Amino acid sequence: PVENLKDGLFSATSSHERSDGLCFDYRKDESTVSITVVGASGDLAKKKIFPALFALFYEDCLPKHFTVYGYARSKMTNAELRNMVSKTLTCRIDKRENCSEKMEQFLNRCFYHSGQYDSLDNFMELDTKIKEHEAGRISNRLFYLSIPPNIFIDAVRCASLSASSTNGWTRVIVEKPFGRDSESSAALTRGLKKYLNEDQIFRIDHYLGKELVENLSVLRFSNLVFEPLWSRQYIRNVQLIFSEDFGTEGRGGYFDNYGIIRDIMQNHLLQILALFAMETPVSCDAEDIRNEKVKVLRSMRPLQLENLVVGQYKSHTKGGITYPGYTDDMTVPKDSLTPTFAAAALFIDNARWDGVPFLMKAGKALHTRRAEIRVQFRHVPGNLYNRNIGTDLDQATNELVIKIQPDEAIYLKINNKVPGLGMRLDRSTLNLHYAARYSKEIPDAYERLLLDAIDGERRLFIRSDELDAAWALFTPLLKELEEKKIIPEYYPYGSRGPVGAHYLAARYNVRWG
Ligand code: NDP
Ligand code: BG6
Repeated sequence: PVENLKDGLFSATSSHERSDGLCFDYRKDESTVSITVVGASGDLAKKKIFPALFALFYEDCLPKHFTVYGYARSKMTNAELRNMVSKTLTCRIDKRENCSEKMEQFLNRCFYHSGQYDSLDNFMELDTKIKEHEAGRISNRLFYLSIPPNIFIDAVRCASLSASSTNGWTRVIVEKPFGRDSESSAALTRGLKKYLNEDQIFRIDHYLGKELVENLSVLRFSNLVFEPLWSRQYIRNVQLIFSEDFGTEGRGGYFDNYGIIRDIMQNHLLQILALFAMETPVSCDAEDIRNEKVKVLRSMRPLQLENLVVGQYKSHTKGGITYPGYTDDMTVPKDSLTPTFAAAALFIDNARWDGVPFLMKAGKALHTRRAEIRVQFRHVPGNLYNRNIGTDLDQATNELVIKIQPDEAIYLKINNKVPGLGMRLDRSTLNLHYAARYSKEIPDAYERLLLDAIDGERRLFIRSDELDAAWALFTPLLKELEEKKIIPEYYPYGSRGPVGAHYLAARYNVRWG
């Protein structure tokens, strides 16, 4: 249901009411939720998962009876885990005075168990510890697989056989990568489904938890002014841009096996595209939304090599500092052809989007960090004001920009009369700048997604048929790239990326925003 709130905002809620800033009322709930972070000694657990759990606790969003378990092979005591975790917790949402007290309360609910990922016995020991804290209440268990993908199935087998709930729910959050092509992804899904139902699997794509990505549907479906324009009739092209101003330092080993197309395009950017382009879902329920996303993905043409440009960053010296090239990383083979940049033109062969290029660009070690959706509209037919606009008519078309990060904003570029006695037009911007409009800090994507997983809300998680459709679009091209050993275009660290991306866009009459 979509309900109207007092302040004029709309809250699209699903099975549970969760309006802006309010979490579920778990206080009366006597069941327990035990969250096990599998791979708790790792980077993601420290950087994202524990801080997100603390932020939820700080906001009173976790159930009354919750416990967090760290599980990994490293030897650690509870005190050592708490010490490690405490270094990354922040009271960033608002600096209430009781921050350190809250941190201590949270850390006291965190425990550690050391074990192997393929040991039924070790998971059984974990089960015993969890039971002690459950104290006979209804037991709900969430496992977060924050480990390398080659051990996902072992961990799921052991968790499900030795440590799943006997009287409540058991859910498993699976981190990407979900395979590296159609075959390996299908094998992973088959492996997971030996031990879990699809309903228990929460495949995370943290871009779906980002505020402006979640807002996409609200923007489209609850504003009359956008939806009628959302088609080939008015939209010339759509750009999905991801760029980072740092390289793969420290993650070279992982990255070299995947590359930017698998790391960013096949998941984060494609998910945004599906949400952007889908038809109106029957309701805000997870299955209705995911049904529409799958339809879009299945209407897309598999990506062609001629519609792709790949690049790799090379070392560059600027201001006396030398930035390393991709292959300077010790964990990357010197002759690696793995792309750290890719630009692609994709097409949706359905009635709404026929012929509209969806241009994707993703790159590491570029000049800036940003994630954006840019929607360029068509020219105004017979524009009365063409002669007042100047010669660059392209510059005068409307553009809607959804700035996912940093500095979240939605702005619309319009033509406007320059005030004065003459008649000159310039391009101005209607700007919804989040920091200026909303005082509350935006939660991290992992907070939203963890809360949804605890609540059983699947809307922002990837269903297996979505995953299959996403891989079907990229797998043939990825194979071709590897078989033909396509050499990437080299670009200097900190630059705007390969010039080939501009030629690709120009072929479709597009200028990157
Ligand atoms: P790590 O490489 O830090 O691994 C997590 C933990 O898994 C390690 O602390 C280690 O724990 C255990 N581990 C590592 N390698 C192996 C191995 N070969 N065999 C058995 N155990 C191993 O991963 P991250 O924390 O960076 O990421 C976790 C998952 O999340 C991965 O699937 C990754 O692709 C994904 N991811 C990570 C992101 C990030 O920013 N880090 C972003 C998005 C996704 P121990 O030795 O104590 O058992
Ligand atoms: C991850 C990728 O999924 O997303 C990383 O594996 C990338 O390579 C990261 O850096 C970007 O996430 P964010 O939220 O920092 O934009």
